[in-house]
Amino acid sequence: MIEALKPVGCCPHVLLVIGKGGVGKTTISLYLARQLSKRGKTLLLSLDPARHLRKYLADGAPGMEVSLISLEKEIEEIVSRHADLLRSLMPSLSAFNLDEVMDIVRYSPGAEEEVFLRKLLSAYRSKNEYVVIDTPPTGVTLRTLALSKLYVAWLDRLIQVRERIVALRYTIARTTRGEATIRDKALERLYQMREEYSWLERNLTSAESTSYVLVTIPEPLPMYEMEESLRFLRERMKLKPKLVVLNRVLPEDVAMRLGLLEAQRRYLKHIEALEINHAVVEHLERPLEALEDVDELERKIKVVVK
Ligand SMILES: Nc1ncnc2c1ncn2[C@@H]1O[C@H](COP(=O)(O)OP(=O)(O)O)[C@@H](O)[C@H]1O
Ligand SMILES: [Mg+2]
Repeated sequence: MIEALKPVGCCPHVLLVIGKGGVGKTTISLYLARQLSKRGKTLLLSLDPARHLRKYLADGAPGMEVSLISLEKEIEEIVSRHADLLRSLMPSLSAFNLDEVMDIVRYSPGAEEEVFLRKLLSAYRSKNEYVVIDTPPTGVTLRTLALSKLYVAWLDRLIQVRERIVALRYTIARTTRGEATIRDKALERLYQMREEYSWLERNLTSAESTSYVLVTIPEPLPMYEMEESLRFLRERMKLKPKLVVLNRVLPEDVAMRLGLLEAQRRYLKHIEALEINHAVVEHLERPLEALEDVDELERKIKVVVK
C-alpha cells in the first residue's frame, strides 16, 4: 500500500487518514505506520483513540512511537490553564464568574479544531520521517483543514489594522519626543502567527509533505462521506488524495450468500472510476485483536496504482 503513496517526500511526511467512524481508520493508520516504520522513524498520532487501539498495542509496537490524544482532554487542559491565568490576573474573580468564563472556552465552537490544528503544526515540526495521523470525525477534520487558510486571511486583516495604529503611534512619538523607533509586541506576534499558519497551509497543500488517505467500506454512508472528503480536497484544497482504501470487502462467495454482491461490485467500480490510487482490503474473517492481525492485512490487500 505504501508504494501507492509515492512520491513520499521527507522530513516529516505527514499522512492524514480520513474516513467515517467505524470504517477502519485506526486499523489502516496502524497498518501504514507499521509499514513506514520499516523505512524510517515513524510516529502514529491517533486523535481518534478507541479502546481497541490500546488492545492492539498492549504489547507495544516496536520501531515506532505512538501518541494517543483525546481532543476533549486537551481542551480541558487549555481550560484549566486559562483558569489559572485568570485567577492570577484577577484574584477578585468569584468562582461563579470563573466557571462561566471557563464554559465559554470549553464549549466555544472550534475548540476541537483549534487543538487539532496545533497537533498538525507539531506533527510537521517533529523529528520524524513519517507521521501517520488517525483523524477525528470527518467534520472536525475538514473544518480544521480549512482553518489555516482562514487564519491567514484574518491575520492579514488584523495586521493591516495594527500597522495603522503603530504608524500613528510612531508619528506621535517622533513629533512629541523625537523617538525614531517603536516596538510593538502585538504586531510582532501577529507576524509570527501569520508566518506559522502560512507555513502550515503550504505543508497541507504540498504533495511532498502530505498524503491524504481516504478510507471507506462498501456501504452507503461511508461512501457518501468519502465523496464529501474528496470534493472538499479537490475544491477547497486543490488537491487529490494519494490513496483511497476500500476496506472490509467480502470475498465474492460470502457477499453473494449475504445478498451483498451487487452492491459491493457497484462500489468497487465506483472506486476504480475515481482514477486515484486505491487499495482494496479484504474483510478478515475474524476480529482483529493484536498487531499480528494488523500485519496479516498485508496479504489481504490489492493495490491499484493509477
Ligand atoms: N479489514 C478488516 N477486516 C475485518 N475487520 C476489520 C477490518 N478493518 C477493520 N476491522 C475492524 O472494524 C472495527 C472498526 O475499525 P477501526 O479501525 O476502529 O475503525 P475507525 O477507526 O474508523 O472507527 C474494528 O473492530 C476493527 O478490528
Ligand atoms: Mg478509530
